[in-house]
Amino acid sequence: MSPELDHSEVFLLPREAEVVEQLSAFRFSTTSQSSPLPFEIARQQVGKTWFFDPRFSQNGKIACATCHQPNKNFSDGMPVAQGMGQGARRTPSLLNVNFAHWFFWDGRADSLEAQALGPIEHPLEHGSNRMRVIHILRMWYRENYETTFGPWPEVLSGALPPDAMPQRDPLLLSPKIATYALASFQSASQLHEILRAAERLHQPVWQRVPAHTVSAAPSIPKAWLDAWHQLPKETHHAVNQVFANFGRGIAAYERTLIAVDSPFDTFVQRAQKETPIAQAFTPQFSTREYEGLRLFLGSQCHNCHSGPLFSDQQFHNIGLPIKKGETRMDIGRAAGIILAQSEKQFSCKGPYLNRKSPSCDELEYLDRENLEMVGGVKTPSLRNVAERPPYGHDGRFPTLRSILEHYNELREEAGIGHREETLRPLGFSSLQLDQLEAFLRSLSSPISEVHWPHYPRDEQDSPPPKIE
Ligand code: HEC
Ligand code: HEC
Repeated sequence: MSPELDHSEVFLLPREAEVVEQLSAFRFSTTSQSSPLPFEIARQQVGKTWFFDPRFSQNGKIACATCHQPNKNFSDGMPVAQGMGQGARRTPSLLNVNFAHWFFWDGRADSLEAQALGPIEHPLEHGSNRMRVIHILRMWYRENYETTFGPWPEVLSGALPPDAMPQRDPLLLSPKIATYALASFQSASQLHEILRAAERLHQPVWQRVPAHTVSAAPSIPKAWLDAWHQLPKETHHAVNQVFANFGRGIAAYERTLIAVDSPFDTFVQRAQKETPIAQAFTPQFSTREYEGLRLFLGSQCHNCHSGPLFSDQQFHNIGLPIKKGETRMDIGRAAGIILAQSEKQFSCKGPYLNRKSPSCDELEYLDRENLEMVGGVKTPSLRNVAERPPYGHDGRFPTLRSILEHYNELREEAGIGHREETLRPLGFSSLQLDQLEAFLRSLSSPISEVHWPHYPRDEQDSPPPKIE
């Protein structure tokens, strides 16, 4: 412990103590319920095997676990993901994902179940399609599937094309959002290219924007689209149902991945009993971490990194400049809102994944014209943050210190959109940065696989949707 601090005087203001209590993992315990039912455990187990199975991918080599690696905090340690191709964003950790509301950096999926279906059909990730999933399940998992989800649909027992999937909706940005994204984009050479393309194609410039974003609809092989088109409606429906259950299984496994027992949480628990606060210190959470906590509170980090996840589950633009070498625009949540609302099959409002959730209540009220969302990404959880470099949605910060230095100086202009006004440079000394970093390091916990019931029980028994 540092000699300059008189421990009898260490204290938190009542308002700070309240925030700290909300950051601690004990908040999670209010959500835990009775023990899981056998079918729930079965889902978690079969979902786990699917998570690790590379056969669902185009080349038979990529599993969810290729990028979300258990020994790397369910991330991959790389700046941007590498699947069938190279993505534009960093692989987020899956720890505590059970408590999240929106999924992907831009929140384009409103449930974990729906999210799991995205990578399968993304040309840069698994590069596969839902029909291939049907074949793999039918060949290798039919029995597990049936014990977990009920009878295998009759129409999926006969001959089926090897690959098939429907066309994806294009990203339809409003003129207001597209124009604003263009006007705020800091790359002169890219702007020039977009202007030239608009001229060549006789299109208004703003209409060219979607094609130049990282959210542009990826191109799907025409043969897969044609094969889908030729199938009867009944088959579409059955494929979608099984595909949704595939998402349910994987999500059930992901929901077991929990890390909530950090030195910070132990400190909070002890501090509720001990006075003065210094008696609540432990070797892993002592003066340095405590000073860091006070800096965290004093700089309003908890405006966004709030609650036991250290994330408000909202979207913010912290004003990162354009990443070196990146030519596309990442308009973040502004596209995520449109993609979430235009998802017809697997959104919580669609026929296949009828989950009730806070995001579902919000979904139809999201403002598609909100300029603040241009360049906004989901506030990442800070739990286990020290264990999984690099940082930022595009992995540009190799170390924890380097992103803290960004917050310390806020020197450059936002690459797209504008930095949220509440953010001010911290102006911390290097000792203070050490303390803040030490605090963030105290948020690491061991990872456990917790089997528990996690979805409304009635979802399982909801009647199958009608086909018109
Ligand atoms: C090629 C690497 C790669 C593969 C394979 C992959 N992911 Fe991801 N995952 C990513 C990246 C990158 C993101 C963020 C993408 C974005 O925001 O646009 C992501 C996002 C997620 C998220 C959202 C987390 C959050 O906090 O918002 C979940 C959950 C997830 N993946 C689960 C899965 C599952 C389940 C699979 C297998 C079906 C899978 N991933 C396969 C790279 C991968
Ligand atoms: C206005 C909301 C907001 C505030 C205030 C804020 N953050 Fe963040 N933070 C974010 C968002 C959003 C990201 C992701 C940014 C990105 O990748 O583009 C982020 C990223 C981070 C990361 C990297 C995590 C990762 O997985 O990549 C760290 C560490 C972090 N913030 C710490 C802090 C600290 C410390 C403070 C206080 C000095 C703070 N943040 C204040 C919203 C905020």
